[in-house]
Amino acid sequence: MKRAKITALGCYTPPKILTNADLEKMVNTSDTWIQERTGIRERHIVDKGIATSDLAFEACKKVLAQRGMSPTDIETIIVATVTPDTFFPATACILQDKLGARGAWGFDLSAACSGFLYALTTGSQLIASGAQKNVLVVGADVMSSIINYEDRATCVIFGDGAGAVLLEPAESEEEGILDYLNEIDGSGGQYLQMPAGGSRMPSTEETVKKKLHYVHQDGSQVFKYAIRKMSEACKTILERNSLSVSDLDLFISHQANRRIIEAAANRLGLDPDKVLINIDRYGNTTAATIPLATADAIQQGKLKKGGLVLYAAAGAGYTVGTTLLRWAF
Ligand code: UT7
Repeated sequence: MKRAKITALGCYTPPKILTNADLEKMVNTSDTWIQERTGIRERHIVDKGIATSDLAFEACKKVLAQRGMSPTDIETIIVATVTPDTFFPATACILQDKLGARGAWGFDLSAACSGFLYALTTGSQLIASGAQKNVLVVGADVMSSIINYEDRATCVIFGDGAGAVLLEPAESEEEGILDYLNEIDGSGGQYLQMPAGGSRMPSTEETVKKKLHYVHQDGSQVFKYAIRKMSEACKTILERNSLSVSDLDLFISHQANRRIIEAAANRLGLDPDKVLINIDRYGNTTAATIPLATADAIQQGKLKKGGLVLYAAAGAGYTVGTTLLRWAF
């Protein structure tokens, strides 16, 4: 089995910024509450008419430029998203066409906050099996398209963004994706969902009136689950690789709430300096948080070639994901 490694990373967030002060004018909330309870100061939001594939396209162009690749070199495209441009065709198909990635195949993957990690697992297995020489893994969401901006419990949390990485075969056993641990638990589905618009409850005038095409969340349930399951999964993956937290150079978690990240890191006994938090500038961009945080880590000089990184995520589904990797560029 060949190991896969990340050889390029590109991110994109739309230019428009929605600040806590803006939200104070829209719902009964305050900058103080949002910062204290979530750690968020601002988030990026698309202009009307901009879709997930548009953000993904910008992120992917950066990946190709970084690697000096032509779009026709891309073999596979996996797009993790819960906000596809349309139910079908898949956003991967729309993106393939925009990029001009003739000859590529691909698909969308729905795993909400764990989507990027599940796509990373899937893509790395395609490389490990020898089936593909490269896979473009994208995490992109336009959460603002499914948020009710009259619901203070959800509208302050989410933002829009995209991140993409290229997976290619690793040259040595020491670099690249070392292990993953993923788990789903559908019994938690009720706590974070978009109830209407699917085959269970197709769109009707009634469902629109009841605002059932928006994110509905029982925040405290998801909050507790995310802390417990992320820390448990991280412990297990470290143990089975005979590693301890002190071996890690960086912990990059899904950015859903600053308090979730800090509590999970605390349970693991992680040095706060090794924990990347950038939720203040982006909010929760669902599938895009981990690539966005990785880009910030590189930019801040916290992530360098050879660095041992633990990725972790938890969210709607429920889904939980962890990936252990040695950074390769
Ligand atoms: O990435 C997907 C996975 N999602 C998550 O991981 C999210 C997990 N959950 C959370 O991050 C937190 O639960 C929230 C940020 C959503 C909420 O924070 P919380 O500390 O759990 O607050 P709460 O829901 O327990 O609400 C506490 C109070 C309530 O008022 P009362 O009933 O105590 O009077 C809420 O109505 O805060 C109120 N509240 C707000 N107040 C001002 C809820 N949202 C707001 C708001 N501004 N935006």
